[in-house]
Amino acid sequence: MGKALIICTSVSHGNTRRVAEAMGEVLAAPVVSPDEADGLDDYDLIGFGSGIFLQKFHPRLREFVASLPRQQGRAFVFATSGLPSPRLSPMARLLEGKGFEVADTFSCRGFDTWAPFKLVGGIRKGRPDGTDLAAARSFAGGLERT
Ligand SMILES: Cc1cc2nc3c(=O)[nH]c(=O)nc-3n(C[C@H](O)[C@H](O)[C@H](O)COP(=O)(O)O)c2cc1C
Repeated sequence: MGKALIICTSVSHGNTRRVAEAMGEVLAAPVVSPDEADGLDDYDLIGFGSGIFLQKFHPRLREFVASLPRQQGRAFVFATSGLPSPRLSPMARLLEGKGFEVADTFSCRGFDTWAPFKLVGGIRKGRPDGTDLAAARSFAGGLERT
């Protein structure tokens, strides 16, 4: 297993950052924001994650990936979202378009205070929880073996 890096935009509640840190522990990967990400060529595996906003990855992450030059190496995609089954494939396609081989994707629920849910105090309070973070660690462990 070579060097790994995790690039994460987590602006709403830090939900995705917590997932990223759990994965980062397993992969010995630093977790950075797109602004901090540098020298991508040095890494064999790079994770890209954010919360889901209006059914899409955060624009900052999408714009960062869109602006990358041609890449090689492996990538993975992850997200937290209030609602189940977020669409992860657009980010995977974007990365593949840049030349990455997308190894796998991961998502879990995250505390969500999007306007309609704010009225009821938000949904998925406490998420990601210990079970979600354990699943994130297990996902990261699986990446090491693929
Ligand atoms: C403005 C806004 C829009 C959102 N849109 C969606 C959505 O379309 N689908 C969904 O499942 N969750 C949606 N969410 C919930 C976030 O995806 C969820 O809270 C996520 O865990 C935030 O990640 P972060 O704390 O790492 O930024 C939305 C939240 C906000 C604030």
